[in-house]
Amino acid sequence: MPDDMRDGTRSATGEHAGRTGHGVHAGDGVHTGHGGPGGDGNGSGHDGPAHDAGETAANGPAAFWDGLYGERGRMWSGEPNRALVETVERLVPGRALDLGCGEGADSVWLALQGWTVTAVDVSAVAIARAAAHAAERAVPEGRITWLHADLSSWLPAGQAELVSACFLHSPIDFPRAAVLKAAAGAVASGGHLLVVSHAEPPPWAAGHDHHEHRFPIPEDDLADLALDAAWSVLVNEVREREATGPDGQQATLRDVVTLVRRH
Ligand SMILES: C[S@@+](CC[C@H](N)C(=O)[O-])C[C@H]1O[C@@H](n2cnc3c(N)ncnc32)[C@H](O)[C@@H]1O
Repeated sequence: MPDDMRDGTRSATGEHAGRTGHGVHAGDGVHTGHGGPGGDGNGSGHDGPAHDAGETAANGPAAFWDGLYGERGRMWSGEPNRALVETVERLVPGRALDLGCGEGADSVWLALQGWTVTAVDVSAVAIARAAAHAAERAVPEGRITWLHADLSSWLPAGQAELVSACFLHSPIDFPRAAVLKAAAGAVASGGHLLVVSHAEPPPWAAGHDHHEHRFPIPEDDLADLALDAAWSVLVNEVREREATGPDGQQATLRDVVTLVRRH
């Protein structure tokens, strides 16, 4: 597992997520991916045993990511993605879809800005934490629907004015291009799709094996979306941000930010 996905690079503020080590449990409103909004089935959030990456990868993405999240009490900073904040500041709140929502920082922030959010992740542990985070921040009831689903096979049931895929990377088998294409299909007319990706691993992950993971350049994410003339490309660039590593190291990290709008 590349450490860029778990050791501080997610932080929009440069803060590394604390290792608070608390257990979490699925709250109300956590639905299975097949149930959709209003569907049944609660996630079974728990902090699992120490993670064996090879074994859990072989058991599929849910086992892999549950194992990873279960290694610590909190993995990400809890702050919203900076590119998302900058994008949304200019938009009128509507429906949002957060793909690979993780611990829910982006979804919670969006909900508090007035968006009605559907948040999807393959990890029940992450979804449970996200629901708990929403409760801590007093997100109004019904403002976020948490879906436990594998994006490899899940398709959005409706459309949204904002679809966001922030750091939707996976070191195990993941059809990222197809998922991004499906994400584009979920954008309503006049709506936006934001894709934020790591352009490179952070320096504190030096020595870790990244050879199986493709770090995109701006053209890659745009090519994956395969947009037609119904779209305008508003942003497709590398942006730098300051971040703090797991041992307090400071670094400038580079993200690929792509924002497109459907006419
Ligand atoms: C690097 S994390 C980013 C989390 C969050 N978007 C953020 O920026 O903090 C990637 C997330 O994608 C989720 N993920 C990976 N593969 C997935 C899949 N096949 N279906 C749904 N979610 C997936 C993981 O569980 C993880 O929460």
